[in-house]
Amino acid sequence: MKVAVLGATGMVGRTFVGLLEGHPWFKVEKLVASERSAGKRYGELVEDAPEEFREIEVVSLGEFLKDPDVDLVFNALPASISREVEERLAEQIPVFTNARAHRYDDDVPILVPEVNPGHLKLIEVQREKRGWNGFIVTNPNCSTAVLTVSLAPLVEFGIKRVHVATMQAISGAGFSGLSALAIQDNVIPLISGEEWKIENESRKILGRLDGKGITPAPFEVSAIATRVPVLHGHTEAVFVELERGSVEEIRGAFGAFDPLKELDLPSYEKPLVYTDVPQPRLHRDRGRGLTVTVGRLEESGSAFKYVVTGHNLVRGAAGGSLLNAELARRLGYI
Ligand SMILES: NC(=O)c1ccc[n+]([C@@H]2O[C@H](COP(=O)([O-])OP(=O)(O)OC[C@H]3O[C@@H](n4cnc5c(N)ncnc54)[C@H](OP(=O)(O)O)[C@@H]3O)[C@@H](O)[C@H]2O)c1
Repeated sequence: MKVAVLGATGMVGRTFVGLLEGHPWFKVEKLVASERSAGKRYGELVEDAPEEFREIEVVSLGEFLKDPDVDLVFNALPASISREVEERLAEQIPVFTNARAHRYDDDVPILVPEVNPGHLKLIEVQREKRGWNGFIVTNPNCSTAVLTVSLAPLVEFGIKRVHVATMQAISGAGFSGLSALAIQDNVIPLISGEEWKIENESRKILGRLDGKGITPAPFEVSAIATRVPVLHGHTEAVFVELERGSVEEIRGAFGAFDPLKELDLPSYEKPLVYTDVPQPRLHRDRGRGLTVTVGRLEESGSAFKYVVTGHNLVRGAAGGSLLNAELARRLGYI
């Protein structure tokens, strides 16, 4: 299938391009960015671009929209311009997007393939409601992706409440996101809109598909988000209250969590691994960045506490979106 990557020169777009090198199902035909990049070879703009894509001439978004001529789109554009672009493309083409523009629409899934694969059924609702041949599938914001992979094995124990404090990497803010001076030797306990996203996206992802929409999971999720001087990899301290379960049982459920193993998706990796002391520098690239690492599990008063770390650009963005597309193809939606 011919695919385009929108925002191909950004942090997430580059990660998409890297993951698509030699992909057995998806062949990159078009790399799209702003007028600033248009007309230049991809290798000129992205020094460490894979050989396979270095000679491709980057096209502007405006040019691309005139004649997309691809079978599938991966979107890594800023949210501010994504809504209109995605809707226009989805009339004909499946769109897998990292932008938040459509995440909260009733008929659009926020998909983490190992957590809520059944929510792909919303594609049928979307097509019926909007009359599209294509569709839009979003993935969550980066810290939510890491959190929900760690919460999915705990659902069987009856989640009552989740509190989380994040320690998020600099690359989560995109290329122009943060001044080096602000983040060096510092922790910044404010990431605009992030806490709301974690709280609401998690409950939608862990919610129940009811006919034409999702009923959010009935438990409270409360988050504090901080930015820390780590290049890649979001780390999260999680406190979760459960109806039942012991440390041994939870540890067993973390270890056994491998829900899509049988589907043989090209990019699939075991989504979660337990390690005593999870750390971004040591563990973010596990499973080519798709595996999150959980550890420090202990009982704490009426709750359990643990730490989870995962790659924000892979598990939390491009890798998650690529897995979404692979799952949709495997299940016959593409
Ligand atoms: N970073 C993360 O960890 C992360 C995680 C999850 C989701 N996301 C979401 O993914 C998206 C991309 O994030 P990012 O961190 O990769 O951002 P980024 O590094 O700032 O990259 C933005 C990309 O969009 C292009 N672009 C910007 N304005 C444009 C315009 N007017 N027309 C056409 N292209 C335009 C840029 O092209 P030029 O190079 O030509 O300017 C660049 O390719 C955002 O919606 C973000 O919220 C990011």
